[in-house]
Amino acid sequence: MSFLNPNRGAGGTKIPLSIIVLVLCGFMFFILLYTERISLMSSSSSSYSPSALPKLKSCPRKDISSKPKPKEKVREEIPANMEVVDDRFDFDPEECNVAAGKWVYNSSVKPLYTDESCPYVDRQFACMKNERPDTDYLRWEWQPDDCTIPRFSAKLAMNKLRGKRLLFVGDSLQRSQWESFVCLVESIIPEGEKSMERSQKYFVFKAKEYNASIEFYWAPYIVESNTDLPVILDLKKRIVKVDSVEDRAKFWEGADFLVFNTYVWWMSGVRMKALWGSFENGEKGAEALDTHVAYRLGLKTWANWVDSTVDPNKTKVFFTTMSPTHSRSADWGKPDGAKCFNETEPIKDRNFWGTGSNKEMMKVVSSIVKHMTTHVTVINITQLSEYRIDAHTSVYTETGGKLLTAEERADPMRHADCIHWCLPGLPDTWNRILLAHL
Ligand SMILES: *[C@@H]1O[C@H](CO)[C@@H](O)[C@H](O)[C@H]1NC(C)=O
Ligand SMILES: *[C@@H]1O[C@H](CO)[C@@H](O)[C@H](O)[C@H]1NC(C)=O
Ligand SMILES: *[C@@H]1O[C@H](CO)[C@@H](O)[C@H](O)[C@H]1NC(C)=O
Ligand SMILES: *[C@@H]1O[C@H](CO)[C@@H](O)[C@H](O)[C@H]1NC(C)=O
Ligand SMILES: *[C@@H]1O[C@H](CO)[C@@H](O)[C@H](O)[C@H]1NC(C)=O
Repeated sequence: MSFLNPNRGAGGTKIPLSIIVLVLCGFMFFILLYTERISLMSSSSSSYSPSALPKLKSCPRKDISSKPKPKEKVREEIPANMEVVDDRFDFDPEECNVAAGKWVYNSSVKPLYTDESCPYVDRQFACMKNERPDTDYLRWEWQPDDCTIPRFSAKLAMNKLRGKRLLFVGDSLQRSQWESFVCLVESIIPEGEKSMERSQKYFVFKAKEYNASIEFYWAPYIVESNTDLPVILDLKKRIVKVDSVEDRAKFWEGADFLVFNTYVWWMSGVRMKALWGSFENGEKGAEALDTHVAYRLGLKTWANWVDSTVDPNKTKVFFTTMSPTHSRSADWGKPDGAKCFNETEPIKDRNFWGTGSNKEMMKVVSSIVKHMTTHVTVINITQLSEYRIDAHTSVYTETGGKLLTAEERADPMRHADCIHWCLPGLPDTWNRILLAHL
């Protein structure tokens, strides 16, 4: 940063400070505009408004130091003993838009479990155990504008599940939500009264005295594919059977609450190979489709199964919207960042929507659900999760059963996981919303 030293220059002539400041200000303004322009262009959305432009604070006049001072942390924290006038209504699933709101830091929040206390947290999501140094990401609470979401109560959850089956179907993000749910309730169930059974695709947690089960079924595309298990690493060889769901769906019948998700597996970046109709030609008959076209066909198959099989008097059906990925730090104004690595606070810009969440895919979900005869409750977690660049497992994770090595951690551009989330963490909020709907 010797460039900033006003004493530098040929023959020791002093360049007036004010000129340097002006030039720098202009330069930074340009960069801000430029990065904003890029994020505007790369999003097909209309939700960007001019107010999404970063606020340009006036440049400092006097104080010029070679390093920017660390920003003062100003947090919207309400003292616990202060009475606050609150005109938000109690949670009503029909009325409250959980997607609009903000994250509020609350230093006295304590997660209901830790990755040590709950034996069911996968090492992949166990950030604390995996030596994540910061803990603030555990203390942000989602505050919708119009209502309050009740805190997660394990007792209430188990009473709602008495004599019932709650089943999550989907990918590893869904699995993390299932693990979160099990961990949120398991501490109130005594040893000997609970059990966990895992087969390859189907995990069942049972609470005996409640005669309740909380289950997960692995189906990353919901519909069948050749890469559910084992996973095919070569993306071009993956084939989705967009019109087949029956084989697996027989395990879902009779559940009282069905929670589905599917998104990130479709977004491999290559055109989706899809098969449908009879498979006489085997995989040769597969056709490459645009991602959203294949997604629509797959979801349509799912919707037909729900409409023809699920008894709406017995079963409540949910669909969780896409969980955002944060692999492009330029989206939030850090072109030199290393994906989500090192992020310790949520994004504050309410209009933020990154390139990891595809609006066209979202539209497919809305239109499919709208045309179903069964009522499906959409749990819209995308916007609130978009802000949480700080909540991913990042380098505090494992791959292939091995923790990242020191060298791998030192190369976050390659190794940081900015798709999955720490547990405890963001999926607990998804479950807080889900519980309010059960
Ligand atoms: C902060 O969290 C504590 C503990 O959960 C809670 O009692 C308190 O009401 C919270 N404060 C606010 C402002 O939400
Ligand atoms: C336990 O729950 C299942 C449904 O999950 C139900 O069929 C069964 O009758 C229940 N048993 C008792 C003893 O309540
Ligand atoms: C659901 O319940 C309603 C009212 O009790 C009844 O009219 C309807 O036939 C039931 N639907 C099914 C699929 O059982
Ligand atoms: C991560 O943060 C540490 C400490 O703030 C800093 O030294 C390091 O340069 C940062 N790394 C990246 C890639 O941003
Ligand atoms: C979820 O919320 C986002 C942002 O508020 C909105 O754009 C999207 O249409 C919603 N998705 C569905 C399926 O309702």
